[in-house]
Amino acid sequence: MGSVESQPVLTGITEAAVFLVVTVRDGAEDDVRDLLGDVASLARAVGFRVPDGQLQCVVGIGSLLWDRLFSGPRPAGLHPFQELTGPRHVAVATPGDLLFHLRARRMDLCFELAKQFMARLDGRVDVADETHGFKYFDERDLLGFVDGTENPTGLAAARAALIGDEDPDFTGGSYVIVQKYLHDMAAWNAISVTEQERVIGRTKLDDIEFPDEAKPADSHLTLNTITDADGTERKIVRDNMPFGSPGTGEFGTYFIGYAATPEVTEQMLRNMFLGDPPGTTDRILDFSTAVTGGLFFVPSADLLDDLPPSVSAEPGQAADAAPAVELGPVGVPGALAVARGTAATAEQAEPGDTSLGIGSLKGSRA
Ligand code: HEM
Repeated sequence: MGSVESQPVLTGITEAAVFLVVTVRDGAEDDVRDLLGDVASLARAVGFRVPDGQLQCVVGIGSLLWDRLFSGPRPAGLHPFQELTGPRHVAVATPGDLLFHLRARRMDLCFELAKQFMARLDGRVDVADETHGFKYFDERDLLGFVDGTENPTGLAAARAALIGDEDPDFTGGSYVIVQKYLHDMAAWNAISVTEQERVIGRTKLDDIEFPDEAKPADSHLTLNTITDADGTERKIVRDNMPFGSPGTGEFGTYFIGYAATPEVTEQMLRNMFLGDPPGTTDRILDFSTAVTGGLFFVPSADLLDDLPPSVSAEPGQAADAAPAVELGPVGVPGALAVARGTAATAEQAEPGDTSLGIGSLKGSRA
């Protein structure tokens, strides 16, 4: 059996990150295709110089750019970010064709790789947003709360974030939604810690979740805990980072969420911005404003190495684009060996089944 290698989506929260969103100019499509094929080797070239720095790069492709670059099948869930206008808050959609999510233990590695990408893209793209994120004390956001606690880990993370058999041409891929939030720190600091804890649904100092009956209906946790019809919780993999500039009074959280289908993150966004029930919107939004919003498809590493035919390719070549259908290393830190056995004993993907139906999930990419 073959295997599909994912991009390092499941790397986990690091000390430093760069989030770079660009739009691609008309006529630059071929150069961008060339760069996509070289992303992994550029990341290796920069990362190899500081092995302990654990540089990892994920690249995502927006819906409009996908259609300019590739013919043949398209990822089932790929569409532009859907703007949401609620009674009080707006989840804006902003331009973006490519997302580079660079993570490392040191900012110099992220910086250098972003520099190498931009050298290749000079004159071919416009930068829509560049945000440099940093780790803040014990995984806290700038609101002072520990952020990331309930992230799935190990196999649960792979199931939540990576496409399985349900879209066989794109197995091992992922969907990523990003939003850059700015916090109104004066308003936040004007409420008591007890009130802040009711906004989030966890205690601030020791990060303990409130019992369900104590969580307000408009708390961040209530609105972001979503379940299937059968009661199974639907998770995403978040890798939020604080960013900011005390000198200019900018304090923010860069939200980034990976999921096997964008539907899950979109449901969370509808709950937050439109409210569940309608009108009961997330109180975190009274203190945080989304200033960007984008949705990108994250191809598997194998698909990046062997890109689908370009739009100008001969009809019929598209069939060659399908990658092998079994997942191999998925960028999970640590070894995850999951025996699959024969097709008869495998986790077959049923409709609505979130299992990947995959083989071995080995280890992290170097
Ligand atoms: C949980 C902060 C935006 C989805 C949390 C927690 C914090 C937090 C402190 C609790 C600890 C944890 O489990 O991570 C923030 C901040 C945001 C933000 C500061 C931006 C201002 C979002 C957005 C989404 C989201 C936009 C989804 C679209 C979630 C989910 C959980 C969570 C799914 C875990 C819920 C659970 O299972 O308990 N967030 N978040 N967050 N957040 Fe956010």
